[in-house]
Amino acid sequence: MIGKIHKQMSHDSWLFSKMATPEYTPFVFLLLLFQSSVWGFPSCHATKPGMLNVHLVPHTHDDVGWLKTVDQYFYGDRNDIQHAGVQYILDSVVDQLLKNPDRRFIYVETAFFYRWWKQQTDDMQNTVKQLVNEGRLEFVNGGWCMSDEATTHYSAVIDQMTMGLRFLNDTFGHCGRPRVAWHIDPFGHAREHASMFAQMGYDGFFFGRLDYQDRNRRMVAREQEMLWRASESLTPPMADLFTGILPNGYNPPEGFCWDQSCDDPPIRDDPDLEDYNVDDVVTRFLHIALVYKTNHIIMTMGSDFQYENANLWYKNLDKLIRYVNQMQSNGSEVNVLYSTPSCYLQELHRANLTWPLKGDDFFPYADSAHDFWTGYFTSRPALKRYERISNSYLQTCKQLEVLGGPISRKGPFGAGDSETLKKAMAVAQHHDAVSGTEKQHVANDYARKLANGWAHCQVLVSNTLSSLSGSSAPRVYCEHLNISVCPLTETSKKFSVNVYNPLARPVSWPVRLPVNGTAYRISDAKGKAVDSQVGLSVLIMVVICRCSITFVMTFLRVTFDPETGLLSSLSNLETQQTVKLSQNFYWYNASDGNNSESIQMSGAYIFRPNTSTPFIISKTAKIETLQNSVVQEVRQWFSPWVSQVVRLYTDSRALELEWTVGPVPIGDDLGKEVISRLDSSINSSGVFYTDSNGREMLQRRKDYRPTWNLRQSEPIAGNYYPINSRAYIKDDKDQLTVVTDRSQGGGSIQDGSLEIMLHRRLLYDDVRGVGEPLNEMSDIYPEGLVVRGRHLLSLSPPATAADTHRPLAQEVYQAGGEREPIFSGLQAVLPPAVHLLTVSQWDQDTVLLRLEHQYQASESKEHSQPVTVNLQKLFSTLDVLGVSEMNLSANQWKDEMTRLDWKAESGTHHTGVTNQLSAYSAL
Ligand SMILES: *[C@@H]1O[C@H](CO)[C@@H](O)[C@H](O)[C@H]1NC(C)=O
Ligand SMILES: *[C@@H]1O[C@H](CO)[C@@H](O)[C@H](O)[C@H]1NC(C)=O
Ligand SMILES: *[C@@H]1O[C@H](CO)[C@@H](O)[C@H](O)[C@H]1NC(C)=O
Ligand SMILES: *[C@@H]1O[C@H](CO)[C@@H](O)[C@H](O)[C@H]1NC(C)=O
Ligand SMILES: *[C@@H]1O[C@H](CO)[C@@H](O)[C@H](O)[C@H]1NC(C)=O
Ligand SMILES: *[C@@H]1O[C@H](CO)[C@@H](O)[C@H](O)[C@H]1NC(C)=O
Ligand SMILES: *[C@@H]1O[C@H](CO)[C@@H](O)[C@H](O)[C@H]1NC(C)=O
Ligand SMILES: [Zn+2]
Repeated sequence: MIGKIHKQMSHDSWLFSKMATPEYTPFVFLLLLFQSSVWGFPSCHATKPGMLNVHLVPHTHDDVGWLKTVDQYFYGDRNDIQHAGVQYILDSVVDQLLKNPDRRFIYVETAFFYRWWKQQTDDMQNTVKQLVNEGRLEFVNGGWCMSDEATTHYSAVIDQMTMGLRFLNDTFGHCGRPRVAWHIDPFGHAREHASMFAQMGYDGFFFGRLDYQDRNRRMVAREQEMLWRASESLTPPMADLFTGILPNGYNPPEGFCWDQSCDDPPIRDDPDLEDYNVDDVVTRFLHIALVYKTNHIIMTMGSDFQYENANLWYKNLDKLIRYVNQMQSNGSEVNVLYSTPSCYLQELHRANLTWPLKGDDFFPYADSAHDFWTGYFTSRPALKRYERISNSYLQTCKQLEVLGGPISRKGPFGAGDSETLKKAMAVAQHHDAVSGTEKQHVANDYARKLANGWAHCQVLVSNTLSSLSGSSAPRVYCEHLNISVCPLTETSKKFSVNVYNPLARPVSWPVRLPVNGTAYRISDAKGKAVDSQVGLSVLIMVVICRCSITFVMTFLRVTFDPETGLLSSLSNLETQQTVKLSQNFYWYNASDGNNSESIQMSGAYIFRPNTSTPFIISKTAKIETLQNSVVQEVRQWFSPWVSQVVRLYTDSRALELEWTVGPVPIGDDLGKEVISRLDSSINSSGVFYTDSNGREMLQRRKDYRPTWNLRQSEPIAGNYYPINSRAYIKDDKDQLTVVTDRSQGGGSIQDGSLEIMLHRRLLYDDVRGVGEPLNEMSDIYPEGLVVRGRHLLSLSPPATAADTHRPLAQEVYQAGGEREPIFSGLQAVLPPAVHLLTVSQWDQDTVLLRLEHQYQASESKEHSQPVTVNLQKLFSTLDVLGVSEMNLSANQWKDEMTRLDWKAESGTHHTGVTNQLSAYSAL
């Protein structure tokens, strides 16, 4: 079987049916036949062609953790924090749907639905299946959560979508497959998310939040619905996604909220009573002005955690529909109906129009002139890192579950599983989780869930490693290597280390372990000596001379200015290029709300420095240097709360900057947002580049948006973008790339300069709902959180820069080292352009595999080419007996995947009817 990866930046999923490790009884090869079922849209109410059709979409927005933990939200616990109980919402909605077959409801977050489903009786489950089959209850989006788009990595997003969608398919079959992606709340939208949704087979995508200037322009130009061309590498329409902006965020029109949490007047329709208000409600409804292109309009009837008492909503919606439609007999041309996003989408598709094309993304998001949601790109940096390494560990865990077979789940070390970490990771993708916009106790809960997932995976990993290595000696995990702590290695005279490389190619990566003493002999599995250095006490020299300090290794040369202790230049020895480069740490003075232009302050969501010039923490650094045959390093101290180690390893093409920031002082009552800034001689002309969810790169231009004329009102915050794995600046000759170890925010404010926000400590809440200042402290860090992380810097000619930064970005969080591997799960290494994205046990005898072409079109002469991989010969321990290709989220067979086709506008002309309800009413 040959799997051809046709295009750059594509990823395909395969389900390997009937695979067996040699020790299993071989399976009989089964040819699996799938009924080809013709699947239309679920039963949608008829619309009226000559009228304006208003699609009422009853919905609830249930955050998978925010002010309360996911479990508190499910049960309705801690209603003193926020009144919200998802179990009651689902109980109540199902009950109300049964009362009137016209009613519709959509449900989004599978993490909650799954919890509820498990507790239902067979009878209730059958009833709900019936509602789903009849299209009365429709799943939209359907991932485990509604992921954040600015701070997530594509690999974890695909996993969490796969988990939610699989539950829906396993439970409801075809009718449970969501047609529409629904990201009504995330704070800005990533192009890579749109690309993934297209590859997951969605027909359309709706969201609520975008920059207020962009929205105003789109309203005037009737461009609130568009075709998003979400990849520069995939041939259209592979990554094309129809995208619609909802009219009122995701809320009902003003005056029409009939939830128990709202105060709007109910429809009082007894004419014998004094406060009869039907005429008033109908008139108000017919005067709602919405500007869209077709004679269809969507209205989101619901909001955060609504429908706990669904009777209130439905009783009034039934009446609204009845009374507004009654006006048709008097000449009104407005037709109101219960609907769902996919029914609405189907009508837009039937309209057979052309739609404006969108090529960039929806970052950054501002809801008014001084309110840029660019702080959360960095908020809770330790959680962001923990989430990222947990993803790496989960991939390892899943691989070892496949390689180990059943013994991995029940072996000498007990019962292990990957499920617990999968679920914890899926919940952590939520737009108030890894985004850092949750309350502190909820952030602690996400971290606790991840830690519990690690524990379950560690048993699994130990079982597999002992089975593969034939040794069941006890194993410990060095979980605190980030702070150079590992009790076993520090106290043992002799120990062995297992290093696992989850990438499908060899990598060379230094492994650092804390030890006690200097006399260690290190050898590989065959007893051969390994190049190593014991560094702790080998401070070779402290430089005090006035000459420059220069490090030279195989690929790079770095110089430091001895007077300031700062980096002064970087050279690539292979390509013989050199740039002037300095680096230092600064902080922005956070707005405290006392400002004449706006009272907005910096908080968990919002970044708003009160001046455009950041304060330097120290102009000079106290330094020490250390050199040996493995690594050369400069340790820099800038202040008691900022230090850094700059490292150059022998065979590395990147310079490592390991920064440590915190506790950020607040004794002066000033909130601080701390950045690392690189200033180079590169002539970047106001342009820099950032990745989208760790995949394709997007160009960013200072004070500019590709799709509208920006009025810039925040010179720093309005130029910040999410960086998930890398950012670069370049000119004709040189490209300087920074690879990050977690998601962070950053910008290029001056030519040649690139700044990345590392840490934020703030004293005020920014009034977007979380209700707490972002001021992280804990028992371990009573003075304030200390964060450590790495930036990897590389310098290359622009034409070949991707050849370095693509592999580097994977290694920075997924690498182990491997010399002569004692065991490899693969028969041969994969070609450099191919990344082994997923290897995961699917059923007892099937494995899910995802291979990814990781180069963007034309970014690398050598690697941006189609690649062919032999799937039959991929694994060393598994015999492939059959392969089925699936969509990206593995909830549809590839050959059953048909998506609606949409036509893009060629010019920029804007046609369309004026869709104001009032224009259609006879009033
Ligand atoms: C979806 O579920 C149905 C049964 O519920 C199953 O037959 C089908 O194979 C599943 N589809 C995929 C893509 O897994
Ligand atoms: C239609 O108009 C007539 C005459 O103005 C009025 O009596 C009747 O109540 C109206 N019907 C509705 C549904 O408003
Ligand atoms: C859609 O519009 C095109 C012209 O743009 C026309 O040729 C085609 O027949 C229309 N299709 C349908 C189904 O109306
Ligand atoms: C390190 O070794 C010394 C001397 O052998 C011993 O006294 C000390 O306790 C050891 N430290 C740790 C952390 O094991
Ligand atoms: C930071 O801003 C505050 C006003 O919010 C001002 O009083 C203070 O002097 C500023 N700090 C510095 C270092 O400029
Ligand atoms: C604004 O200034 C006042 C007095 O200078 C101070 O008490 C307050 O904390 C500051 N910040 C806010 C958000 O009001
Ligand atoms: C080190 O990692 C642990 C988790 O393994 C985490 O709890 C801790 O915050 C990290 N410390 C730093 C300084 O990043
Ligand atoms: Zn939300």
